[in-house]
Amino acid sequence: RRVAILISGRGSNMVSLIEAARAGDYPAEIALVLSNRPDAAGLDRAKEAGIATCVVDHKAHPTREDFEQAMDAALAAHGIEFICLAGFMRVLTDWFVERWSGRMVNIHPSLLPLFRGTQTHRRALEEGVLVHGCTVHFVVPELDAGPIIAQAVVPVVPGDTEESLAARVIVQEHKLYPHALRMICDGTARLENGRVVFSRGW
Ligand code: GRF
Repeated sequence: RRVAILISGRGSNMVSLIEAARAGDYPAEIALVLSNRPDAAGLDRAKEAGIATCVVDHKAHPTREDFEQAMDAALAAHGIEFICLAGFMRVLTDWFVERWSGRMVNIHPSLLPLFRGTQTHRRALEEGVLVHGCTVHFVVPELDAGPIIAQAVVPVVPGDTEESLAARVIVQEHKLYPHALRMICDGTARLENGRVVFSRGW
C-alpha cells in the first residue's frame, strides 16, 4: 500500500509512521509526505528520512476546492492509495472526503466521541475526566466523527497540566498510529457500510 502522510506542523506522528514502515513485514510504504505549510518542521524530518515531500500551500489557492484539487493531483502523481492525516490542520470538503472514503484516516488526541475539535487536553482537565487518550478513525465529512479503528487510554493524574497530559497522550499516539495503519493495510480492519469491521482474532 502506498501511503501519504498529510501534515501541517512538527510531524512527530509522521516520524513514528515512517519508522514503523521501515520494518520488512510492514504492509505499508510511506511514499509521500505532503504539507499545506511550507514551513512545517515535519518536512525537514521527512526529507532526512529519505521520504518524498511536497508542499501544497493553501494560501496559494483561491478556494478550498482548488487547494484540494492540487493536493489530489499530487497524490495521484505519487500513486498514493491511502492517506494518514497527522496534525493536518485544514478542514476537508465533502468532495475530498468522499473521494478518499475508506482510504483516509486521522489521529485525534482524545477518546472520541469525547472532545472533538481542538484543545482536547485542556477540555479533558476542565471536565475532570479520569481517563483520556487518543483515537485513530476513518475520516468522514463531519469533523472527528468517523468510525473508530483503535484507541489508547491514559490516566489523568492529580496535578496534571495541559502539557503533562499532552505528553502522556502523545507517547500513546506514536504507538497507536502505526498499529492502526498496519491493521488497515493488512485487512484486519476495514470500513464496510459506514462501520469498521475487524477480522483475524476479533
Ligand atoms: C497530535 O496530537 C495529533 O493527535 C493531532 O495533532 C497533533 C499532531 O502532532 N491531530 P504531530 O505533528 O504529529 O507531532
